[in-house]
Amino acid sequence: MTVLNVVNVTFSYPGRRVLEDIEFTIKGGELAVVLGPNGSGKTTLLKIIAGLLRPDNGTVLLDGITIHDMSIVERARKIVYVPSELPLRGLGQSVAEFVASSRYVHYRGLVIGPRREDLEYARKLLDMLEVGHLANKPLYTTSSGELQRALIAHGLARNADVMIIDEPTSHQDMYGKLLIYHVLKKAASDGKAVIVATHDMILASLYADRVIVLFNGSKVVEGDPRSVLTKDVLAKVYGVEVALASFNGYTVPVPLKPARKR
Ligand SMILES: Nc1ncnc2c1ncn2[C@@H]1O[C@H](COP(=O)(O)OP(=O)(O)OP(=O)(O)O)[C@@H](O)[C@H]1O
Ligand SMILES: [Mg+2]
Repeated sequence: MTVLNVVNVTFSYPGRRVLEDIEFTIKGGELAVVLGPNGSGKTTLLKIIAGLLRPDNGTVLLDGITIHDMSIVERARKIVYVPSELPLRGLGQSVAEFVASSRYVHYRGLVIGPRREDLEYARKLLDMLEVGHLANKPLYTTSSGELQRALIAHGLARNADVMIIDEPTSHQDMYGKLLIYHVLKKAASDGKAVIVATHDMILASLYADRVIVLFNGSKVVEGDPRSVLTKDVLAKVYGVEVALASFNGYTVPVPLKPARKR
């Protein structure tokens, strides 16, 4: 089973400490959600776990091996990072070609384009995310929400043991939000370790096996959503007063008003 250990990770951008002594473990089969206010270090932490940034201290181990010692290709086969936005949308590349290009890290030798079976796989994933009708459209013609679903399909196409996704539902309508978490939950139940950063407390409460809350560069609390997302924690971390709504065995925080200025 996949085991990802984040061990005492500390990280600074020039002149600014962003993460201090962060420690947690995620296993295959789990959907873990990282929460925390704007600027609390979620994206930075995800980039470190993906191997895109190197911690100043501490390490990240995947099945006992330091991910920063792996080659870029080896790491990319095992860990896929899905950013919250795509800076470039490809020049004329179709949506299916974009998704299939996630498979390139598994190819050996010269890459001259996606293989037929990978394009078929890409179409299947796009269907699963209910954007299959866009498969042949140029990527640059997609709407923000459609592009976000294509990005998630791109992440899934890698078939990596660890999937790291930054704000996967920021552009989704109500239906899309549920669809995406449903798909991510399925990826976890297939054995992947799925790590998501989000601001969506409701979805985190409904879908997360575990939540990790960052505040001022430190992990303040970790555990199952119901025990972590309490009125006190949300007041302290977000400065928001919430009501807790309970139904069907779930407890979901509903924001009421700003509790104090942070
Ligand atoms: N490349 C960079 N150079 C310097 N500072 C940075 C850089 N990237 C991020 N930061 C700073 O590090 C802090 C953490 O940023 P990060 O993007 O990890 O936060 P976040 O929790 O993902 O926030 P958000 O919820 O707004 O996405 C912020 O204060 C940000 O301004
Ligand atoms: Mg972020």
